[in-house]
Amino acid sequence: MDERPPRWHVSGLNICDPNDHIGKKSDYITRLHEKALRRYLPTGTGTGTAVDLGCGYGRLTPVLSESGWRTVGIDPLENLVQYARLHYAGPNYLVGGLPALPLEDGSVNLLLIQNLLRPLLQLGQLHLIRGIGRILAPGGYVVVVDNLRIGHPAYISESQFAALFAEESCRLERRVAIRAARWWMIYAIRYGLVPTRYFDRIADWELDRMSERKGSPRFQYYNVLFLFKKKDDASG
Ligand SMILES: C[S@@+](CC[C@H](N)C(=O)[O-])C[C@H]1O[C@@H](n2cnc3c(N)ncnc32)[C@H](O)[C@@H]1O
Repeated sequence: MDERPPRWHVSGLNICDPNDHIGKKSDYITRLHEKALRRYLPTGTGTGTAVDLGCGYGRLTPVLSESGWRTVGIDPLENLVQYARLHYAGPNYLVGGLPALPLEDGSVNLLLIQNLLRPLLQLGQLHLIRGIGRILAPGGYVVVVDNLRIGHPAYISESQFAALFAEESCRLERRVAIRAARWWMIYAIRYGLVPTRYFDRIADWELDRMSERKGSPRFQYYNVLFLFKKKDDASG
């Protein structure tokens, strides 16, 4: 199997940026995403279960294990799951997807939904997320990482994110921007002009800078992390 992660299209959607020919942009963004999850993810005690739903090729799934959760990665595409098992070993990876997840009701303490909802919107399948609250234990967390851009029909609005999870008895606890789609540094990274050894420092700096941005832009998108918590007394 290739060293580089799969770029296969999922019903017309890319797994990686097709213009990122040398893979540096994907490497940088994954570094930043790992750091964002380490900063903002609730930590586990080793006994609770975390699920990376739509885990793709598994690039972020082991961060959940590192944060103290027994971790399961789930994706409908078998080739991606195979790649994850080989290259991101540790978590338990399962083939599956919405709406029929291979999980018991009330069994999940932390659910990561990273870059899944907008692809579902684009596929006309956003409704599949309805009822996801059932798999969460009372007091369980949902971490959604997705793109926000105002006034554009291909993006889910901030209020829609809140409404989707309010329907699942989940309350918004935190909202923090982590990345901007367009700034000169990301182009320099994509063209290989920035040595990899600087990626850590740039990602830390970008996370600090973005954490101060409260709104959503109109002419680009921000990648934003939402932390929701299911009510302690909610059973379904
Ligand atoms: C843009 S990729 C994001 C992958 C991963 N979360 C990441 O950030 O690298 C979206 C993923 O959602 C998966 N997916 C598509 N439909 C799904 C469904 N109905 N249930 C769960 N996952 C799905 C795709 O196979 C794909 O791996």
